[in-house]
Amino acid sequence: MWRHPCSPLALVLLLNSLELQASVSYKPNFLIFLADDFGIGDLGCYGNDTIRTPNIDRLAEEGVKLTQHISAAPVCSPSRAAFLTGRYPVRSGLDERDRFRVISWLAGSGGLPQNETTFAKILQNKGYTTGLIGKWHLGMNCQTRDDFCHHPLNHGFDYFYGMPFSLMGDCQITYPPEKDMPQRIKLWSYTLLIALAVLTLMAAKLTHLLPLSWKTIFSLALFGCAFFISWFSSYGFIRYWDCIVMRNYEITEQPMKVERAASLVLREAISFIERNKQGPFFLFVSFLHVHTPVVTTERFRGKSRHGLYGDNVEEMDWMVGRILDKLDKENLKNSTLTYFTSDHGGHLEAREGNAPRGGWNGIYKGGKAMAGWEGGIRVPGLFRWTGMLPEGKIIHEPTSLMDIFPTLVHLAGGTVPQDRIIDGRDLMPLLQGSVQHSEHEFLFHYCGMHLHAARWHQKDSGNVWKVHYMTPIFHPEGSGGCYNIIFCQCSGKYVRQHDPPLLFDLSRDPSEAVSLSPDTEPLFHEVLKRIGRAVEEHRRTLTPVPSQLSFGHNIWKPWLQPCCGTFPFCWCDKEKENL
Ligand SMILES: *[C@@H]1O[C@H](CO)[C@@H](O)[C@H](O)[C@H]1NC(C)=O
Ligand SMILES: *[C@@H]1O[C@H](CO)[C@@H](O)[C@H](O)[C@H]1NC(C)=O
Ligand SMILES: *[C@@H]1O[C@H](CO)[C@@H](O)[C@H](O)[C@H]1NC(C)=O
Repeated sequence: MWRHPCSPLALVLLLNSLELQASVSYKPNFLIFLADDFGIGDLGCYGNDTIRTPNIDRLAEEGVKLTQHISAAPVCSPSRAAFLTGRYPVRSGLDERDRFRVISWLAGSGGLPQNETTFAKILQNKGYTTGLIGKWHLGMNCQTRDDFCHHPLNHGFDYFYGMPFSLMGDCQITYPPEKDMPQRIKLWSYTLLIALAVLTLMAAKLTHLLPLSWKTIFSLALFGCAFFISWFSSYGFIRYWDCIVMRNYEITEQPMKVERAASLVLREAISFIERNKQGPFFLFVSFLHVHTPVVTTERFRGKSRHGLYGDNVEEMDWMVGRILDKLDKENLKNSTLTYFTSDHGGHLEAREGNAPRGGWNGIYKGGKAMAGWEGGIRVPGLFRWTGMLPEGKIIHEPTSLMDIFPTLVHLAGGTVPQDRIIDGRDLMPLLQGSVQHSEHEFLFHYCGMHLHAARWHQKDSGNVWKVHYMTPIFHPEGSGGCYNIIFCQCSGKYVRQHDPPLLFDLSRDPSEAVSLSPDTEPLFHEVLKRIGRAVEEHRRTLTPVPSQLSFGHNIWKPWLQPCCGTFPFCWCDKEKENL
């Protein structure tokens, strides 16, 4: 609508834009919440009426809600790499090779490459104090136990507290804690036993009591060690290897006490704000929630209507609330851009008996590990910045988690790296309403290194087309998940190739229920051709990079094992001492 330039509204608009410019001249704080494996269907503000998430919902009421917010990968490590670098994970080598899709051991040598630049690094250079509290899962060491080449502190964070790896089933002890001691005693006895056996054999050989060759003795010793290592890495020792907590470079808990993690994460987040309230700061709260085994504090257990999983969601929401309260208390609400999202969709196959233990992806098909179906990649996206962003606004345009990179870099007064391709786009114009359309015309949906699908937002018509070149084969057929293998895979016998590709129009069929055909969609061939061309253009921008998830990188390397003590006797609980 056109208005006379002197009308009161125009004046107000003019004033508003002057005010905007004035207020952008300071550096806002950034508070980012990233949930783990959290489905878009589990939030009140996205339509769930039985899980209570009032604190996260508050962000939607007081800010902008994105309904088509897309993660770059459907599993943890690659999605987080893309989030922090603003680039598709294939560009940094965090894509599947040899069937590994995430970093599988803390003592592997793969991780976020040192020559990748995270937005934390740029914010740090722009004078921000940057902190990561919670999960990392992007590697640790390259060559020695303490080179920390992939550590958060070498990727732009001034402070790190949390799990360098990921929460998983093995982190939770299923036997009483008292049983922990005998475990260690066993370890000592086995070590002594093997040493003693080898020494005895050597003594026997030297005194000519036994007619054994050195070769045999060496083989026996090797066999003993191999047996020892295999014994050591089973029987609950994965917990010692992978489930640890660090403060900066120091291990504070090995193995971690999972039931204590939530309160420590909360304590650390609040004290980070307290320490840095004069700003500018960037606090990245990377939740261990709601990943299995959904360990939940007593206080929330049995309180939700959706079992342990629901309890865990409500606990996370409570933590968000406590951290937001701290912002309010310090009068930082208006000067802080707050963002909430999840690394990818909920894990449908995580079940306990008949009850789900993973998330719910609402009306969207599929979930975690599925790159093509919306349920794997469409996640919550909430932005609040009081006074700077509209309140209660809903945006249906396609956006990506990779957009956070350029958005925050620009707000901090920085520039994005010019020597590489950044796939994210600055979101501020869209969030503030100065443009109507997202800058993303195409988005590419990778499953590991395999392109499973692509979407095209046809701006003039408003259609959001999506083609699937491959889809995972569900088991049982039609169930919407891969219940035989826990995770859907990306290639080989686990997927079905489609030629012609499957085509959906998400603007009419967001659940991807009925695929279109040339009979039902006159534009069928035209759309496929247009997207095919975009895929070709996109492919031309890719250059081969060393894989971080190759077999060679992704195995347990004892010499890289972070260890609180003298390897292999790694255990400590410094939190207990501090409590
Ligand atoms: C709310 O979340 C629960 C738990 O994931 C799910 O079972 C339920 O169907 C959801 N409700 C709606 C309306 O989406
Ligand atoms: C924060 O912004 C809101 C809306 O612009 C304003 O009403 C409020 O007074 C501001 N609060 C502070 C502490 O500046
Ligand atoms: C990082 O190093 C690898 C290996 O040398 C190279 O292939 C890649 O292009 C580099 N990435 C950037 C962003 O410079």
